[in-house]
Amino acid sequence: MRNTLALALVWPLLFAACGTSPLPPGPVAENPDPDPQPPAPVVPPPVLQTDQVIVAHRGASGYAPEHTLMAYDLALEMGAEYIEQDVLPTADGVLVCIHDDTLDRTARGPVENCTGNVSDKTLEQLRSCDFGTWFNEANPDRAREEYVGLPIPTLEEVFQRYGNAPDIKYYIEIKPNTSTGGSVEQTLLDLIHAYDLYDGAVNDRQVLVQSFIPTSLINMRALDAELPLIQLYAAGATAGVVLASSYAFGIGPSSAEVTPALVSLTHSLGMAIHPYTINSEDDLAAMAAMCVDGLFTNFPDRYRDVLSETDFGCPAPIR
Ligand code: G3P
Ligand code: CA
Repeated sequence: MRNTLALALVWPLLFAACGTSPLPPGPVAENPDPDPQPPAPVVPPPVLQTDQVIVAHRGASGYAPEHTLMAYDLALEMGAEYIEQDVLPTADGVLVCIHDDTLDRTARGPVENCTGNVSDKTLEQLRSCDFGTWFNEANPDRAREEYVGLPIPTLEEVFQRYGNAPDIKYYIEIKPNTSTGGSVEQTLLDLIHAYDLYDGAVNDRQVLVQSFIPTSLINMRALDAELPLIQLYAAGATAGVVLASSYAFGIGPSSAEVTPALVSLTHSLGMAIHPYTINSEDDLAAMAAMCVDGLFTNFPDRYRDVLSETDFGCPAPIR
């Protein structure tokens, strides 16, 4: 999908294609910037001098509402290698892409449908909610009318949209508090198979499954012996890295945890290290210089620029 001239041509149309909503347009925060955000991606994105994995955290969520198709589209156009999905089950068992357990921060619409726990709502209820207006409210300098009314995507819709071409990669998080008894893991595994992503996942890490909860990953490992898994760590919680090497392909620590010693330990165990979430150019460069294998960022274009401008002299990343 990326690296084609066609993308440059269709870029202005993507917002229109994704933005259809049954909701009437809401108020849009005034944008004082005469140069509207996000910037048009450079097509093709700059070539990397340092080959590290660019993970678009909730999509290009610095520029567009997180976990919308617009945010994922933009991330791929900016040269992200992976698009991240946080997934939660609805009351009727559908995996939807959303970060928070509750709807209150990112949904607008009928109170009975668009506030409270995601897991208490059916997919039909969530269909009535607007997942873009909050971004305009929170980021007036980056507000766009096209964001108003954006729907929540299901994970299946994401797989349908982007498919299984080798240059499309998914980094999917099973969220804390939602995995009970392995049903989320089984649903996720079934979708990976249904959309012919399993072989790519196993052979080329086309899908990475991540979680903060070791039990979720161990559940997944019990269901499937080979799917590559990433153990996430909150700040101050990387003590289990050696244990993780028994079931995980890699680790995803908080950026605050990353030191040359942790990078070295992780690599000595044969695992990849993908810290989260790094956004400023200085911080991106500092992290890249420690020879991590990749990282999560809300601004995939910035990380791509950092990696294209400098050869940090790192060994080939673990992929
Ligand atoms: O999954 C890596 C990173 O996204 C973890 O933080 O809270 O944004 O899901 P969070
Ligand atoms: Ca996440």
